[in-house]
Amino acid sequence: MAGILSAGAGHILRNVRDIVDSPSKPAGAAAPVREFPFTQDDFVRVRNLIYEFAGISLSPVKKEMVYSRLVRRLRALGQGSFEKYLAYLEGNTDEIEAFVNALTTNLTAFFREPHHFEILGQQMQMASARPFRIWCAAASTGEEAYSLAMAACEAFDSMTPPVQILASDIDTHVLRTASEGVYPAERVDRLNAGRLKRFFLRGSGSKQGLVRVRPELQALLKFERINLLDSEWPIQTPFDAIFCRNVMIYFDKNTQLRLLQRFKPLLQPCGLFYAGHSESFLHAAELFRSCGRTVYEHAR
Ligand SMILES: C[S@@+](CC[C@H](N)C(=O)[O-])C[C@H]1O[C@@H](n2cnc3c(N)ncnc32)[C@H](O)[C@@H]1O
Repeated sequence: MAGILSAGAGHILRNVRDIVDSPSKPAGAAAPVREFPFTQDDFVRVRNLIYEFAGISLSPVKKEMVYSRLVRRLRALGQGSFEKYLAYLEGNTDEIEAFVNALTTNLTAFFREPHHFEILGQQMQMASARPFRIWCAAASTGEEAYSLAMAACEAFDSMTPPVQILASDIDTHVLRTASEGVYPAERVDRLNAGRLKRFFLRGSGSKQGLVRVRPELQALLKFERINLLDSEWPIQTPFDAIFCRNVMIYFDKNTQLRLLQRFKPLLQPCGLFYAGHSESFLHAAELFRSCGRTVYEHAR
C-alpha cells in the first residue's frame, strides 16, 4: 500500500498538602477553594485506578482536571470526600464504569485527519475481499465511525457498500451518543454541502438545530463496548483496516506495545492500521512499519 500513501468541579476546605505536593502549582500560589477535600494521596489513587481499569496514564499535572471531572460523581452519590468516594468505588462495578466514563477524554470530529479517509477510500477500492471490514477501536461519540461509513459510501458510490464497521470504546456514555447518531448541527458545519445532503437529516420543530445520520449509515455500523485493556476482545475475524486513533497517546509505551502485539493478528496481511496524528510506533518496528501519514502496515 505504500505507493498510494506517499502523496502524501457541602463543605469548603482548603487542602494544605495540595500546596506542598502539587507539581504544577507555582510556589506561593493559593490552594484552590474546593467543595470536597482532594488530597495528593487521593489523586495518586485516582491515577493508579484509571491506569488499572483503562490503561490511561494520567499526567501528574492533571489534578485539577481530575477534580473537576469527578466532583459530579461525589455530588450525585452524596459522598463527602474523595477518600470516601474512592473507598466506595473499589469493588463497585457500576461506579467503576461511571468513574472511567468521567475520566476519558472524548474529543473527536467528523473527518478528523481527513487524509486518512482518502487513503481508506483507495484501500477499499483496491481490496478484493468483501465485505471490507473496519474496526474503529476508540470511536468516542461516533463521528469517526460515521466518517468511515461515509467514506465507504463514497468509495463504492452506494448507500449500501459491502463494508462492515465495528465501532467500540470503553466509555458507555459516548457509545450511547454514537449509536443514536444525533448531533448538534455545529458538529457538521465543516462538511461540504454534498455530504450534508447525502448523509444527514436535518431536525425540525423540537429537533431544530440537530442533525441525524441517515439510517443507511447506521446500518453499516455495529457498536460495542470494548476496553482495549481487557484480556480478551470479542473479535474473531481479522479486519482490513483498524482505526485506533488518538487513544494510544493515553497509554504508556509498554501498554502500547502489548496492544500492538494483539492488534497484529487482527489485521489482514494487506490491512492498514491508522494511528492518530501524534502517535508513533517506532518502538514496535518489528510488528508494524510506517507507510507515512501515521498509517502502518505489517512489518514483513
Ligand atoms: C480522544 S478520543 C479519540 C476519538 C477518535 N478515535 C478520534 O480520533 O477522533 C479517545 C477515546 O479513547 C477511548 N478510550 C480510552 N481508553 C480506552 C480503553 N482502554 N479502551 C477503549 N477505549 C478507550 C476514550 O473513551 C475516548 O472516547
